[in-house]
Amino acid sequence: MVQNFVSGSTFLLYYFFLCPLIIANEYDLPPHIIVIMADDLGWDDVGFHGSNEIPTPNIDALAYNGIILNRHYVLPSCTSSRAAFLTGRYPTRMGLQGDSIQGGEPRGLPIDIKILPEHLQKLGYETRLIGKWHVGFHTPQHTPLHRGFDSFLGFYNRYISYYDYRYTQGNMSGYDMHIDDQPAYGLKHEYATDLFTNEAVRIIDNHYSQRPLYLQISHLAVHAPLEFPPDDYHEENFTHIKEYERRKYAAMVTRLDNSVGRVVSSLGDRGMLKNSLILFLTDNGGAPTGKYRNWAWNYPLRGTKYTLYEGGVRGVAAIWSPLLQDVARVSDQLIHITDWVPTLYAAAGGDIRDLRELDGVNQWRALNHSGQSTSRTILLNIDEISKTEGAIHGRFKLIRGSIDPHGQYDGYVWPINHYRRRVTISYNTTRILHSVVADSIRTHLGTPITQPSTMITLRQRATVECHTNSTSPNIFNVSTCNQTECLFDIIHDPCETKNIAQQYPMRVTDLDQFLAKHSNSLMKQLRLPVDQMADPRRKNGTWQPWLKPGVFVYPNPNGAGAIGTTAICAHIGMALIIVGLRAFI
Ligand SMILES: *[C@@H]1O[C@H](CO)[C@@H](O)[C@H](O)[C@H]1NC(C)=O
Ligand SMILES: *[C@@H]1O[C@H](CO)[C@@H](O)[C@H](O)[C@H]1NC(C)=O
Ligand SMILES: *[C@@H]1O[C@H](CO)[C@@H](O)[C@H](O)[C@H]1NC(C)=O
Ligand SMILES: *[C@@H]1O[C@H](CO)[C@@H](O)[C@H](O)[C@H]1NC(C)=O
Ligand SMILES: *[C@@H]1O[C@H](CO)[C@@H](O)[C@H](O)[C@H]1NC(C)=O
Ligand SMILES: *[C@@H]1O[C@H](CO)[C@@H](O)[C@H](O)[C@H]1NC(C)=O
Ligand SMILES: *[C@@H]1O[C@H](CO)[C@@H](O)[C@H](O)[C@H]1NC(C)=O
Ligand SMILES: *[C@@H]1O[C@H](CO)[C@@H](O)[C@H](O)[C@H]1NC(C)=O
Repeated sequence: MVQNFVSGSTFLLYYFFLCPLIIANEYDLPPHIIVIMADDLGWDDVGFHGSNEIPTPNIDALAYNGIILNRHYVLPSCTSSRAAFLTGRYPTRMGLQGDSIQGGEPRGLPIDIKILPEHLQKLGYETRLIGKWHVGFHTPQHTPLHRGFDSFLGFYNRYISYYDYRYTQGNMSGYDMHIDDQPAYGLKHEYATDLFTNEAVRIIDNHYSQRPLYLQISHLAVHAPLEFPPDDYHEENFTHIKEYERRKYAAMVTRLDNSVGRVVSSLGDRGMLKNSLILFLTDNGGAPTGKYRNWAWNYPLRGTKYTLYEGGVRGVAAIWSPLLQDVARVSDQLIHITDWVPTLYAAAGGDIRDLRELDGVNQWRALNHSGQSTSRTILLNIDEISKTEGAIHGRFKLIRGSIDPHGQYDGYVWPINHYRRRVTISYNTTRILHSVVADSIRTHLGTPITQPSTMITLRQRATVECHTNSTSPNIFNVSTCNQTECLFDIIHDPCETKNIAQQYPMRVTDLDQFLAKHSNSLMKQLRLPVDQMADPRRKNGTWQPWLKPGVFVYPNPNGAGAIGTTAICAHIGMALIIVGLRAFI
């Protein structure tokens, strides 16, 4: 199985030199930070957003005993969202605002920008990544161990198959599972969600609890391909769901939910829970259509992954920690995924003045006290290639463009009857009250836990309603923003049915100016062709870095500094230069 990553010497060094310092300070030990990131999870696929279809008792228990982050905005696709999460900056500053990185495409997160685990390492954290990376691996310098993680068990690409851990790009196909920076051969073919959960539990079990831990579990789940978890999942489990594929998806969500329970339970058993902060979030909205369709539902939010409609960028998120005072509530605070770098750094006791050039803001105080912060404008994205852009200020959201000429991703995937006819099982709050997460909180913290009546109230607050009476437009008769710009009032019209750009020209102008400002500092995307030298056939059938370290230097994020090799490549016959750089021919 997976070996213990911690080298003995590092541990001894730590134990004899650093440990006494930390013990002296035991009560000030920064919190263990556990980030659980789901992939392509739909808005409507957790119980706390009002759906009865797929029970998620552990995730719900975490949310009801913590804070439901109901206006948490993310980027519309994987690479851009993870880049924003890790750097605290808008991907437009790094040229990562567009399509996710393809296998064999020689680009990634610029290595001159410090990322979250690097910041936390400086504060004494042990930093571990499990699961998906997908922010570049063309050179060894771009892989997790060179980017602030002490250990890694996971995959580099967009997705892998759940049992044999393979990824295919065009005619290139290979194994993609790694321990640290080596291929992880010899693993038994365990369902990926379980492999990652077992590794998380192993890390927690072996963690020296007087040292703060940063553990990021970036699940493959519930990205396509749809594959059933093993053992006790049978077709009869989700008989209230009509579609076979959606039942598969439901089983995958359930396995993810179990994983959350196991992680929280092991934190409890190790005595770490009372000093933990757990963030659960999705990287972007669900994908009910398209190439990587996973049968997620963003209902009643409009749009899907890839789009700037709410279904693409308003992501499921909740935070739980006994260090937060004011919990069991729904927060309407506007939070952007770039906020986690300063927020977690502050929670870890760092001084955010150490972090420069961030777009994210520190939300730690706002999370601890339920007040709303001042009005703020956030950039949803500017993708100069697909010609889509959007921004939010308060209740107003301006968006332009469509990624698909037929608006395939912009509305609802199924006709309204499909949603309305949903056969529901009842919402079982007893099951949440006795979930592994709730049991762990009860047992290990001894604090009162959120009771069913409060759960129901919170759930109602967290459920998005769309008004469909005669005075407001039918939610399925929506404005298209592919020809004209759209301004939506997302507080009163969260389903984005009614374009109010003409009624509020000043709002449009303000958001326009904000977008123009970001357009000016935008770094153009380097959409590079897939490099055939990345072919896993050259690397014992495994996806691995294929270019020499140190060659790829990116322009600085303001676009003001020296233009790096890659950017020059992109502008002057990059293919030739890349040929010259190839490492392991
Ligand atoms: C794989 O496809 C690329 C083009 O997409 C082609 O250039 C290359 O020769 C193919 N390689 C093999 C081994 O078929
Ligand atoms: C699925 O069904 C099987 C057999 O009926 C049962 O043992 C199992 O507990 C069910 N699993 C879930 C997650 O409901
Ligand atoms: C949250 O606020 C309370 C009350 O002001 C304070 O005692 C506590 O230290 C704060 N917690 C954190 C983690 O900042
Ligand atoms: C815009 O999208 C709608 C569907 O939402 C589609 O019917 C229409 O053809 C699209 N128009 C253009 C110009 O792409
Ligand atoms: C709700 O969950 C509890 C605990 O899992 C179970 O005993 C009970 O039968 C469930 N109730 C319904 C109506 O399904
Ligand atoms: C119709 O919807 C509007 C909001 O769009 C709401 O203010 C109004 O009360 C609704 N009317 C009825 C009769 O439900
Ligand atoms: C759709 O909305 C437009 C403009 O809001 C309206 O003119 C049209 O009658 C609506 N169509 C339906 C079928 O509701
Ligand atoms: C090549 O891959 C196989 C598994 O596919 C593995 O067993 C073997 O050890 C690998 N060889 C090297 C040299 O890494």
